[in-house]
Amino acid sequence: MAQGEAKSEYLFKILVIGELGAGKTSIIKRYVHQYFSQHYRATIGVDFALKIIKWDDNTIIRVQLWDIAGQERFGNMTRVYFKEAVGCILVFDVTRPASFEAVKKWKLDLDTKVQLPNGGRIPCVLLGNKCDQAREGFFQTHEQMDSYCKDNGFIGWFATSAKENIRIDESVNFLFSKVLENA
Ligand code: GTP
Ligand code: MG
Repeated sequence: MAQGEAKSEYLFKILVIGELGAGKTSIIKRYVHQYFSQHYRATIGVDFALKIIKWDDNTIIRVQLWDIAGQERFGNMTRVYFKEAVGCILVFDVTRPASFEAVKKWKLDLDTKVQLPNGGRIPCVLLGNKCDQAREGFFQTHEQMDSYCKDNGFIGWFATSAKENIRIDESVNFLFSKVLENA
């Protein structure tokens, strides 16, 4: 019989938010099912996905991903959806500057509607998705993005591609490491 190892199990409710068509559903599909489709079908309301992760020998994380429709930003339902979330992935589309401009509004909405039990902000990572398509490079430098994150309360940012599977696991694991610090 195995002797006295302390096993920890966590349930993480993680929100995935950002503008219409930024790639939220695609990131979740890639992360959970290792699958990508070019076909766009807008999420209506909210979708859910679950993934169970063996974080280390003693830690299991059950991750509940809440895939919030981009068109929900001005909807009253987000207050209900955001309740008790412990982490957030905010996605914009690097090929569409307007989706980056909307990031601040999403972040403000998030911080207004959900807090940690101690009143602090829930950890939120910023993803510039579709980096496979950014032909002329992104419109912000690394330095600009770093200070943007600092100024706007993001734990960090990543250029990702759900299509080519670039930095999806890395960015999600980075968020989880921060969420675990609050667990
Ligand atoms: P809403 O549910 O309407 O809020 O959109 P969403 O953020 O869930 O976007 P979705 O994942 O449905 O992706 C929108 C479109 O972008 C789809 O046609 C995807 O195939 C495409 N897409 C998503 N991620 C990537 C990516 O990394 N690279 C490229 N080239 N296309 C992507
Ligand atoms: Mg969607």
